[in-house]
Amino acid sequence: MHWGETPLDRVIAGRVLPDEVVEAIRDRSRLAGVTLIDTAEGYGGGSSERRIGRLRFADGHLLATKFLPTYWRWTPGAVVRSQRASNRRLGVETCDVGFIHSPIHFRSPEVWVKGFARARRRGLVRALGLSNFSADQVWSAVRIAAAEGIPVVANQIQYSLLVAASPALQETVAASRECGLTVLGYGVLGQGLLTDGLTQERFEGNLVARRLGLSWDLLTPVRTVLSEVAAKRGRPMSHIGLAWARAHGVVPLVGTRSVAQLEDSLGALDLSLAPDEVEALDGCALGLSTFERPRWQRLLALALVSALMLGYKASAAASLRQRKLHTDKL
Ligand SMILES: NC(=O)c1ccc[n+]([C@@H]2O[C@H](COP(=O)([O-])OP(=O)(O)OC[C@H]3O[C@@H](n4cnc5c(N)ncnc54)[C@H](OP(=O)(O)O)[C@@H]3O)[C@@H](O)[C@H]2O)c1
Repeated sequence: MHWGETPLDRVIAGRVLPDEVVEAIRDRSRLAGVTLIDTAEGYGGGSSERRIGRLRFADGHLLATKFLPTYWRWTPGAVVRSQRASNRRLGVETCDVGFIHSPIHFRSPEVWVKGFARARRRGLVRALGLSNFSADQVWSAVRIAAAEGIPVVANQIQYSLLVAASPALQETVAASRECGLTVLGYGVLGQGLLTDGLTQERFEGNLVARRLGLSWDLLTPVRTVLSEVAAKRGRPMSHIGLAWARAHGVVPLVGTRSVAQLEDSLGALDLSLAPDEVEALDGCALGLSTFERPRWQRLLALALVSALMLGYKASAAASLRQRKLHTDKL
């Protein structure tokens, strides 16, 4: 999500990572045995996928990307077209996992599951992943996928100490497990809200905090417990958050923007928390999951994301044109 390279990425993230940084992350992660790279057609209007293809990540990693059911998409054929375009950008004939980015649409997720089954029959994708699917949606998607003959491998959901106390989220985790899906957790570090580097000033500008309706006063008790466990173990807070997610059987997806961050995340792999530490962390968790929000709010959120995707696409087209002009001049 952090590897897009359009002018809009620069505005939103404050900078665009140079290829050398992403190449260094690629090489170090391969060496360390990291097997999965997660992207989406929506990240940087396809420019994250394009970069992953250009830097040949497929020679050594499994690739997962995501189809976004935006409001101008209504049929299974949209999945096939989108997966074909993603594969072209990723530089692969077959993508390892195609995720449904979010089931929020006026149409039932059944349409997208059927679309992925069709994409699989055409050799465009090996397996289906779900993302942001609630418990009921997991059961229904897995049933339809079985009938259509496509394996479902994971449910990718927001999972951190900011959201884990949500009953709806816990139901989703339980349903995913019962269906044999790997639970992939994003935002485990709360996009920096649950790491040592956070200051009150950085908090004020944090988009996730604003989206979750999180105040500094609500966050402080969570960070206090996290930092107490971290101090006791002599580890950074990030290690404790990542080990806590793994203690719950959740595979963390970490948004990596530098080799130093990658090294830091890898450093958490040898840490196992004691049961009383997990209990203390569970006890301070908040329940701000979007699964608790009414459906109309989630539909509205997707409308905003759809609009953002159009903005990204325009921005990606502009930067591609600029790159081509530059190459032509050379
Ligand atoms: N399916 C979905 O709907 C969905 C939604 C969101 C994300 N995702 C996926 O999940 C991935 C991760 O999610 P995320 O980026 O939102 O959340 P995250 O991993 O909680 O946060 C990433 C941010 O935390 C900081 N960070 C990263 N590694 C760190 C470390 N080891 N120590 C300290 N700080 C660290 C960095 O911020 P600074 O650089 O500012 O320090 C980084 O940008 C995304 O890249 C994307 O692939 C999926």
